[in-house]
Amino acid sequence: MRIGCVGLGRIGTSHVQTLRAVPGVSEVVVADVDGARAEGLTSPAAEGLAAVSAVPVEALLTAGLDGLVVTTGSAAHGTWVRAAVDAGLPTFCEKPLATSLTEILEVAEHVRRSGVAVHVGFQRRFDAGYRAAAEAVRSGELGFVHTLRGVASDMLPPAAGFIPGSGGIFRDCLVHDADVIRFVTGREVVSVYAVGGTKGADFFAAAGDVDTGAALLTLDDGTIAMLSTSRYNGQGQDVRLEVHGEHGTVAVGLDDSLALRSVEPGASQPTGPVYTDFYSRFRPAFADELAGFVAMVGGSPSPCTVDDALEASRVVEACDLSRREGRPVLMSEIPSALPAPATS
Ligand SMILES: NC(=O)c1ccc[n+]([C@@H]2O[C@H](COP(=O)([O-])OP(=O)(O)OC[C@H]3O[C@@H](n4cnc5c(N)ncnc54)[C@H](O)[C@@H]3O)[C@@H](O)[C@H]2O)c1
Repeated sequence: MRIGCVGLGRIGTSHVQTLRAVPGVSEVVVADVDGARAEGLTSPAAEGLAAVSAVPVEALLTAGLDGLVVTTGSAAHGTWVRAAVDAGLPTFCEKPLATSLTEILEVAEHVRRSGVAVHVGFQRRFDAGYRAAAEAVRSGELGFVHTLRGVASDMLPPAAGFIPGSGGIFRDCLVHDADVIRFVTGREVVSVYAVGGTKGADFFAAAGDVDTGAALLTLDDGTIAMLSTSRYNGQGQDVRLEVHGEHGTVAVGLDDSLALRSVEPGASQPTGPVYTDFYSRFRPAFADELAGFVAMVGGSPSPCTVDDALEASRVVEACDLSRREGRPVLMSEIPSALPAPATS
């Protein structure tokens, strides 16, 4: 298969290297508005690794591709996904599908009408721990589930320039937790209450954002999910989930790389090394995710559809509104479809 990849920044560069090693991929064709980035990634085929070739962005969709991976900045996702499905190309798009809920609704509708498969990049669905948690819920091992507690803290904050275009901490970070709560429980969110605060760098407040947020979600079967996220945990990347049920509790992310320290006298401590960023935390998940995309190009169903992406985005839209207005928000307040066209 010839797989295209457009947008060769932090995650695009990483995804190209991952795609090269996915069985069935014979060539990765890369493009970026910055042509030098694409040229810099070209590489011949090697043992177990596909070749990487570069084309100008205008030539990508007519380069004889079997599928496309979109890893541009978020503002260009919607345009590329629409163009790719119009060209009949199965497409992987990094989260988010677009930067505003209105555009997400438009892109989702465009994709549905095209009938072309699209996979949106929520890699926790491919993480072994989150998968095991979902299985513990589905198998009935936990009995009824009453509470989930999620933590997602970065080791270091991003560069100041990233924040104004990020959509804010809920849309940029907590969206992964919103998606994985749906994935693990199989339930939908009905209401949220969210708060945020900033004790770190001034550039968060300057952009109307916060560096730390928390959200209390109520699911449609009464399950409670408590989520917290922060740009600051200098000890290391800390991404965890606890699922509390009638018969017991399971935890994702409690391993020797755990970036927290017990203060109990004599307690054993994780032996490390800690994860330093989301790449190291989710490297195997990213590899399985892109293998899942290649399987979708081969005809398998999408592992994370535009409708899944839309629901996660609706939840964080509600969180952002809740934080700004200081009140609980019902999911029924957040649009789930485009307004019907006016009739004359
Ligand atoms: N799944 C995750 O955990 C995860 C982690 C990081 C980033 N992301 C997502 O991945 C996307 C990329 O993030 P990043 O940090 O790599 O960004 P980045 O700014 O490092 O790279 C973006 C690249 O896209 C290129 N680009 C921008 N507009 C383009 C266009 N119209 N056509 C072609 N190329 C274009 C830029 O030149 C740049 O090379 C974002 O949407 C982000 O939300 C997801």
